[in-house]
Amino acid sequence: MDTLLPEQRRQIGDFTVVDFVDEDQIAGLRKKLDVDVPLELHWTWEYGSEVEELRALYERGKKGQWNAEEDIDWSTPLPREEWFMIKEGGALMPSVLAMMGADDSICRAAAWDEFSHLISQLLHGEQAALQLCGQLVNTCPTMDAKWYAGSQVIDEVRHVEVFSKFLHRKMGVIHPIDPTLKVLLDSLLAAPTWKTKVLGMQTLFEGMAVGIMDLVKRANTSPLIADIITRVHQDEARHAAFGILSMRRIVQESTPDEMHEMEDFAFNILETLNANQQLDMLRLFGHKYDLDPDNVVQMMHSIEQWGFINSEPFMHTVIPNLKRLGLITERTEQKYRDRGILFDAPGASHASAFPIAS
Ligand SMILES: [Fe+2]
Ligand SMILES: [Fe+2]
Repeated sequence: MDTLLPEQRRQIGDFTVVDFVDEDQIAGLRKKLDVDVPLELHWTWEYGSEVEELRALYERGKKGQWNAEEDIDWSTPLPREEWFMIKEGGALMPSVLAMMGADDSICRAAAWDEFSHLISQLLHGEQAALQLCGQLVNTCPTMDAKWYAGSQVIDEVRHVEVFSKFLHRKMGVIHPIDPTLKVLLDSLLAAPTWKTKVLGMQTLFEGMAVGIMDLVKRANTSPLIADIITRVHQDEARHAAFGILSMRRIVQESTPDEMHEMEDFAFNILETLNANQQLDMLRLFGHKYDLDPDNVVQMMHSIEQWGFINSEPFMHTVIPNLKRLGLITERTEQKYRDRGILFDAPGASHASAFPIAS
């Protein structure tokens, strides 16, 4: 599998980034609302449980339901003029601005913008998860997988609901989808087989979502955000488990060629996600804070702990899970390291909120 988005790539120092700069191209990607999706629908007449661990997960999901309108205390304020996350190390722009000696109020405004952008991207990702999970109901071969995917559909609806209400009610803005994210989500939604869909959405994207949400949870100081993220995070951990349980079976049944293909697919998706280095976000707000996107990327790369910081959302769940599945081998491990995605420093531990026994 060739590297994704070759025409969007360029060098910043010795790092290859994916960068969308053409506004017409970006608008075109956002306008593309119809995606051609090959879908093979499977009936099954086996109504008893065949995959015990999926049935158990389905039961757990039923008990874990919550109501985004009623269970969240929407009266909790989120004042724009107060910090709602830790001042240093909570987000990229405020940290860089603080290093450059900017006023506290400017750093706080940048934190607000960056956070509303992050939650907007999570929201678009949730819509993709909803769409893809609907596809899985059709394509999964076993009744247990259909039941589980069906129950996940309502979870994803709730996530779209809670994030869109949060943005509308508390932040007053929903930012459009980042071009890099749109390309990647379209490719997962259009993936030809249910196996690739499960690997792409349930393992890679759900795993990333769990990692990012955990970072948000650690950096955040607002009780409202904490409550929302904790609830969504609990659901996502179940979804990531669905991905792993299904993938374990898929891996067992795969030929070496299929394993190679999945290994490359996983690397290419994560590599592209990482190659953006938040440039989509920096292009949106850079001018407002007098930040040059390239300089910010270069500055971050010059920090001694860059490898650790950069790899955090990846090392949280996705990379350990891919390793356990045998989808990172000698063939790709070094490539993950070279890109700052896989990183294990002595003494540094990436907390895993969702350890899966191998
Ligand atoms: Fe979700
Ligand atoms: Fe999910």
